[in-house]
Amino acid sequence: MPDVHPSLTQTGRYSPLRYPGGKGKLARFIKDIVRLNGLSDGRYVEPYAGGAAVAWELLLTGVVRRVSINDISLPVFAFWHSVLNSTDELCKMICDCPLTVQEWDRQKAVFRRQNETDYLRLGFSFFFLNRTNRSGILKGGVIGGRDQTGRWKIDARFNKSDLVSRIEKIASLRTRIELTNIDAVKFIETNAKRFDKKTLIYIDPPYFEKGRFLYHDAYREEDHATVAESVKSLKSVSWVVSYDDVRPIHDLYAKAPWLQYTINYSARNITRGREAMFFSQGLTVPNVPAPLHEIDRDLRSRPRPVSKREFAA
Ligand SMILES: C[S@@+](CC[C@H](N)C(=O)[O-])C[C@H]1O[C@@H](n2cnc3c(N)ncnc32)[C@H](O)[C@@H]1O
Repeated sequence: MPDVHPSLTQTGRYSPLRYPGGKGKLARFIKDIVRLNGLSDGRYVEPYAGGAAVAWELLLTGVVRRVSINDISLPVFAFWHSVLNSTDELCKMICDCPLTVQEWDRQKAVFRRQNETDYLRLGFSFFFLNRTNRSGILKGGVIGGRDQTGRWKIDARFNKSDLVSRIEKIASLRTRIELTNIDAVKFIETNAKRFDKKTLIYIDPPYFEKGRFLYHDAYREEDHATVAESVKSLKSVSWVVSYDDVRPIHDLYAKAPWLQYTINYSARNITRGREAMFFSQGLTVPNVPAPLHEIDRDLRSRPRPVSKREFAA
C-alpha cells in the first residue's frame, strides 16, 4: 500500500465527514448545472446524503438557498442531527476528546450499541471513528494501528479547530437545512410534490457492483430498478443520478441523457473509478473536454448538449 498522507484522501472542503466515494469533487460540476439551468437561489436535495459534501459547498458558497438531506443510516443521521441541533455540545466533545486508542475503543463501544435515543453520543462516536479510521471506513481500523507505530497516527485526520469550524459554518445556516432519516425512495415519493421547479435532486445511491466501496448498503438489483422508477416519476424537478458505469444501470436509465466520467477516489489505492451520470430531460450540462473525462478539474461553464451515446463497455 503506498505511504500517502491521509489528508490526501480528503474529498470536499466543507463536510466534516470523510466518505469513501464522497462526491465533493463533483461540486464544481453540479454548481455549473445549477447556474446553467437557472436553479441558483433554489433548493438542492440529496436523498442519499452521506457526507453531503456537494450540498454543503453549494449552500455555504451561496449557490443555493435551501438544502434537504436524507440518509437511512442512523449514525449518519445522528451526526447531522447533532451538528444542527446540539452544535455547541458536539463541538465541545470534539475539542475535549483525547486522540488515543483507548478513546477509540470507547467510541467503538458506543457506536456498537447504537443507542437510538441519544443522537449526540451516537453521532459523535460515528464522527470520531470516521475521522480516526483508515480511509474513514468503519471497518478500516485505527490510523497508525493499535500500537500507533504507523507513519500516520490516530490524530492525522483530526484537526480539531478545522472540524469545529466546518460544523459551525453548516450549523449557522440551520434554518435553511432540512434533515430526514428515511428510505430514499420513500423520501423521493413523499417530497416530490412539495419541491418546486427551482429544485435540483442529486441521487447518489450505493453502487451497483458491491465491494468497490465499503458502505453499509443492502441494495439488490431490484432495488436499483425501484430507484430508477421513482426517479423517472419526477416530472417537475431537475435531477442528476450517478452510478458505477455498468450495463444494468444504463439499461435502467436508457432514455435519459448521460455522460461517463472518471473520478479519483482513494489516494491509498489510487483507484480511478469510471462512473456514469444521468440527467433529467432538458437539463443543460456544463461543457466537458472529452467523452471520458476527469470531472474533478476546472470546467468551463459553457452549455453542452448531452446526447445519448452508445455504451462503451
Ligand atoms: C454513495 S453514499 C453517498 C455519498 C454522498 N453523495 C457523499 O458525497 O458523501 C451512499 C449513502 O446512502 C446511504 N443509503 C444507503 N441506502 C439508502 C437508502 N435506501 N435510503 C437512504 N439512504 C441510503 C448510505 O447510508 C450512505 O451514506
